[in-house]
Amino acid sequence: MARRSCCATSCYTTKTKLNPFNSFLCAFISFISLSPLIAEAGLYTASDQIIILSPENVDSVLFNSSAALFVEFYATWCGHCVAFSPTWKNLARDIKEWKPAVDLAAIDCADESNRKVCTNFGIIGYPSLKFFPAYSSSESRGQVFRGFSRDVRGLRHYIINKLEMHNETWPPACPPLETASEAELDNFFQTNNVKLLALVFERKDSYVGREVTLDLLQYENIAVRRVLDTETSLVSKFGVTDFPSCYLYNSSGHISRLKVLSEARTFYSYALQRLPGVVRTGKPQIPITDLIKNSTLQEWRPFNKTRVYMSDLESALHYSLRVELSGHISISGDDLIALKKYINVLAKYFPGRPSVKSALKTVDSWLQQQKGVEIKYSDFRDVLDNTVQTSDAVLPEGVQWVGCQGSQAQFRGYPCAVWTLFHTLTVQAKEMSSPDPQEVLQAMRSYVSSFFGCRPCATHFESMAQESMDHVTTLSSAVLWLWSRHNRVNNRLAGELSEDPHFPKIQWPSPELCPSCHGLKKTGEHSWNQEDVLTFLRNYYSSARILTDYLQDETQALIHQRNRLTAARMEKEARRGAERRAREVLDSHPAEEPQEEEQQEEEEEEEEEPALGEQAGEPYPAGLERMGAAEADKADNQAPWEKPQRPQSQRKPKIVGMKLRERQEDIVDLDLFVNHHYKAKALRAAAMSGVVQRRSLKKKEDVEDLQFEGGWRVKRDLGSQEENLGAGVGIEPYPRPQSKRWMSLLSLGFSRLDVSLCVLLYLLSTMCLLAMYLYFKLRIKLRRAKVSLP
Ligand SMILES: Cc1cc2nc3c(=O)[nH]c(=O)nc-3n(C[C@H](O)[C@H](O)[C@H](O)COP(=O)(O)OP(=O)(O)OC[C@H]3O[C@@H](n4cnc5c(N)ncnc54)[C@H](O)[C@@H]3O)c2cc1C
Ligand SMILES: *[C@@H]1O[C@H](CO)[C@@H](O)[C@H](O)[C@H]1NC(C)=O
Ligand SMILES: *[C@@H]1O[C@H](CO)[C@@H](O)[C@H](O)[C@H]1NC(C)=O
Ligand SMILES: *[C@@H]1O[C@H](CO)[C@@H](O)[C@H](O)[C@H]1NC(C)=O
Repeated sequence: MARRSCCATSCYTTKTKLNPFNSFLCAFISFISLSPLIAEAGLYTASDQIIILSPENVDSVLFNSSAALFVEFYATWCGHCVAFSPTWKNLARDIKEWKPAVDLAAIDCADESNRKVCTNFGIIGYPSLKFFPAYSSSESRGQVFRGFSRDVRGLRHYIINKLEMHNETWPPACPPLETASEAELDNFFQTNNVKLLALVFERKDSYVGREVTLDLLQYENIAVRRVLDTETSLVSKFGVTDFPSCYLYNSSGHISRLKVLSEARTFYSYALQRLPGVVRTGKPQIPITDLIKNSTLQEWRPFNKTRVYMSDLESALHYSLRVELSGHISISGDDLIALKKYINVLAKYFPGRPSVKSALKTVDSWLQQQKGVEIKYSDFRDVLDNTVQTSDAVLPEGVQWVGCQGSQAQFRGYPCAVWTLFHTLTVQAKEMSSPDPQEVLQAMRSYVSSFFGCRPCATHFESMAQESMDHVTTLSSAVLWLWSRHNRVNNRLAGELSEDPHFPKIQWPSPELCPSCHGLKKTGEHSWNQEDVLTFLRNYYSSARILTDYLQDETQALIHQRNRLTAARMEKEARRGAERRAREVLDSHPAEEPQEEEQQEEEEEEEEEPALGEQAGEPYPAGLERMGAAEADKADNQAPWEKPQRPQSQRKPKIVGMKLRERQEDIVDLDLFVNHHYKAKALRAAAMSGVVQRRSLKKKEDVEDLQFEGGWRVKRDLGSQEENLGAGVGIEPYPRPQSKRWMSLLSLGFSRLDVSLCVLLYLLSTMCLLAMYLYFKLRIKLRRAKVSLP
């Protein structure tokens, strides 16, 4: 187990394993509480990319900071503040890339505990805006911005003006904003360590050049300067005719015009950030093929980046239904409602293969019949896996990402497929004219809230849902709502550690992908043509366009599932047969005394083995838990996250629970049978006194690890799942529910399984004694008969 820090904040993973789901969000968890979704008061939350000030952090944020700070002082009860808050949030999203040079903050002066801070800064009305230049001293009260405009553009321009007024304390991350002259250009590449210079030619009053400069400040190998139209020598040298326009100039003196859809800030920035050789600071620039060659990924499946793949969707279903949900032993209350909604929406709108669709329908109708307050995950799982019994219905097992492949194991995969799945479902609901416009969104909301393993994601998503999901009144607006919220998430995550450098987070769809989706306002600001976006989404996520490459073969999956069922059934019968034979053996041989010695050895052995339970400080009867699990998972004795080579699974099982399982295989030997009988007794006794501690602790650890890793709740080993995928009948990936089992044991007494096992063993032992009694009686009778013969 290697400990490694996975991000700059205080977040660690305890194991380095091939697991794409566990570590990619680390940056977000450190300060977000995991359990109750959304607990923040005030007008802003952590997902708004605005620093929320409090008496504790105000000094460290505002004073002697290397970035300038722009602060809003507001009161939650003030109507103007409420009205202004969307502008402040939009500004934060708009200038997200400028953060190292200038950051936004807000403080709620209506909060008692913040009163003193607000008074100290001389705040008397709300909202008040104050600008704190970089390296402000602790005496600074900030520069008041009076009569500010309520639009993002005006605020952005104000920030640029303020930044330009910095003199000796220029924020180090902020690139020069002044205009470039011919003299400067002549030896630009000698004095600057870049290969590419982008020149924005514009008029004096235009802010485009400076905005683009700031938009690129987190990118390497490129510099941006503005050139005024009055710089005639440069204008003629570059042959500039339009203002604004952008030209590229490289160290060998080559000049070319930047091709964009519209001559505006957003288009320039987007195009420049994507130029070959231009990389975001801190992101590696390795060709994907080399990466794959060097990494542990098994294979790279070439795919079209502009298409949706069914393999991703089915993999998302597999992972969500067989792995993510399996963390919940029993599902009740809101979780049960969430599950029902989710499955119902899938059954209605999932545009899958016939076999997958009918599997979903079978599970859905089973679920709708469940009227109790609670269901067991294992029952749900049985229905899901046995759909093949009733019809040609099966959800193929295992994950196989295609369009959602990441360049490294920790990138993309499941969360990518979750987005893809729900976009597809919203579009499908639109095509099928669902009567309820919010149906899919609400299903997604409750699924994410109840089950999505990434808890910070759930928090953020819930806060977006609370904010505006109510406004969705048509099927089209549902499609667009999800699209725009996804873009918000993309905006927030751009440049984060969780971002795959080969799949940068952009405002989607890009101008190349959908030119007509992008437009310009009169002010030169970018705007989305929502009609075109809708058309584009309906086409992009339409069921007809989903590619089926790399899909698992349907008939193969059906056969596999059937074989597994038959194997399970045969095993059951074999077990029954073995029991019968044992009884027969018993009938034909006199029973020997149970070997006390052996029994003792067994016990000693048990003591030698370190009591894992104690080690981990877990005072629960794990042996009992194993028993339940052993029964539950029938054929397989290999959990998907338990790699075969792990010593734990190789070691000869020594605990009572495990021994009991051998009974399933071969109980022809009477000794063995008697031994089992005694062990069962020992187990029972131990269970009563509550001292059996053993086993499966490893798994418990796994689960707990997870809760620290980037906030992901469930941890499963994808690697071995994939291995299992093709492994044939015997081994199926059945993630054993375990995390809460001991709780239910403690709170509800022993599970039904445990009790019934005890009863069964009692019965067997009684029968054994009865058989012995009959046997001896018969012999005595026979002898008597013999004696009585003449
Ligand atoms: C509900 C939810 C909340 C999340 N919250 C967080 C979080 O708070 N923090 C965090 O670190 N990660 C979060 N994630 C994960 C994150 O959003 C990405 O899914 C993950 O980083 C993988 O990114 P990706 O590059 O595969 O692209 P994804 O963002 O997963 O997108 C998948 C695909 O969808 C398409 N797409 C992209 N944008 C749009 C759009 N706007 N509309 C339609 N289609 C689009 C693209 O083809 C893209 O490849 C969340 C995921 C989900 C499902
Ligand atoms: C301000 O920060 C710099 C380094 O960032 C440090 O050297 C300096 O001492 C700090 N000044 C004060 C007053 O804290
Ligand atoms: C691949 O591995 C080799 C040697 O192990 C190393 O020298 C090289 O830098 C690696 N390449 C990448 C892209 O990681
Ligand atoms: C990807 O799909 C698009 C749309 O169908 C198509 O135009 C494009 O040629 C495809 N690209 C590749 C590399 O196959």
